[in-house]
Amino acid sequence: MATMNEIPFFDMTRQYRAAKPLIDAALQRVLDRAWFVLGEEGKLFEKEFAAYLGAESGIGVGSGTEALHLALVACGVQAGDEVITVPNTAVPTISAISFANATPVLVDIDPVTYTMDPAKLEQAITDRTKAIVPVHLYGQAADMWPILEIAKKHGIRVIEDACQAHGALYQNQRVGTFGDLGCFSFYPSKNLGCYGDGGFVCSNDPELSERVQLLRNYGQRKRYYHSIKGFNSRLDEMQAAILRVKLPELDAGNRRRRELAKLYDGLLCKTPLTLPREVSYSESVFHLYVVRAPRRDELIEFLAENGVETIIHYPVPVHLQEAYNDLKIAPDSLPEAERAAQEIVSLPLYPEITEDEINAVAALINHFYRH
Ligand SMILES: Cc1ncc(COP(=O)(O)O)c(C=O)c1O
Repeated sequence: MATMNEIPFFDMTRQYRAAKPLIDAALQRVLDRAWFVLGEEGKLFEKEFAAYLGAESGIGVGSGTEALHLALVACGVQAGDEVITVPNTAVPTISAISFANATPVLVDIDPVTYTMDPAKLEQAITDRTKAIVPVHLYGQAADMWPILEIAKKHGIRVIEDACQAHGALYQNQRVGTFGDLGCFSFYPSKNLGCYGDGGFVCSNDPELSERVQLLRNYGQRKRYYHSIKGFNSRLDEMQAAILRVKLPELDAGNRRRRELAKLYDGLLCKTPLTLPREVSYSESVFHLYVVRAPRRDELIEFLAENGVETIIHYPVPVHLQEAYNDLKIAPDSLPEAERAAQEIVSLPLYPEITEDEINAVAALINHFYRH
């Protein structure tokens, strides 16, 4: 059974072609101004994205990983501290914790939402716990109220990893604005992506926000006067100019992702796949359309043979990665995350994918399970 054409997991050229005149003009504006780091575009984008989120302020940084790293450091996380997050996240969440010299502590996920199970959170807290990093994975909000309540009770900071959830809602409020700091990635394939690396930290706490601002720029308040030890992690002007073109399209892109997810739902509902489920508190922005699939590896192979690219997000949970052997977390100790890693696969979904392509992917999946 053959599809019409190859169906890639993501095709960035479609988005660029649609926005080319505006993107090219924005880049030309930066070139003409010849000011490339910490300038007008960055300042305006920080205001615009913070306003979109409903946060008091926002700071453009070098990547999502650095957003998390700087947020942790701004919250005072240091060597010997523990930071709680989930085992099924993208490893960069954990990289940030490691580079803040803290120990990641992993709490298992809810098998329906793939986000932190708040019922398992409190037992992971010790007197060394300094922060909790819930991850709004695949575009769906983590269950924030119980997490915030537990954090408040124990006097622990909350840093949201919203790298996959630009514009997602938790009880009608945008994710990233619930915790002490909210972190975003603008990696090109994200719902709001630039043309390189980029990241963002938003906050309603002026003191924390100022600390992130200092940390991203060598710790200097005034040029060559350094009040704290800092880093170099800044969103450059080219990326900020591109993001300013793309931000006004974010909601339309997210709406389209939701429509296309519904289309998949309808076409796949008679297969044995477990489809993504939106829970009542969350409005997902479907960064990814993740299903659980019986005979998953065979299905992936069948789709690949027929020109459809799929990806597993993520095939190995953090605690089973070679790099994190030192956490000494035994296999089987985080069963939901481990089971998900064996069963999940992400199907192609992005605003510019055509309905014909989705129909073709779904037809192949229906065919696979009928035979
Ligand atoms: C959940 C999550 N956290 C953190 C990151 C790190 O973002 P970046 O790739 O911009 O460093 C990513 C992106 O890959 C992510 O998906």
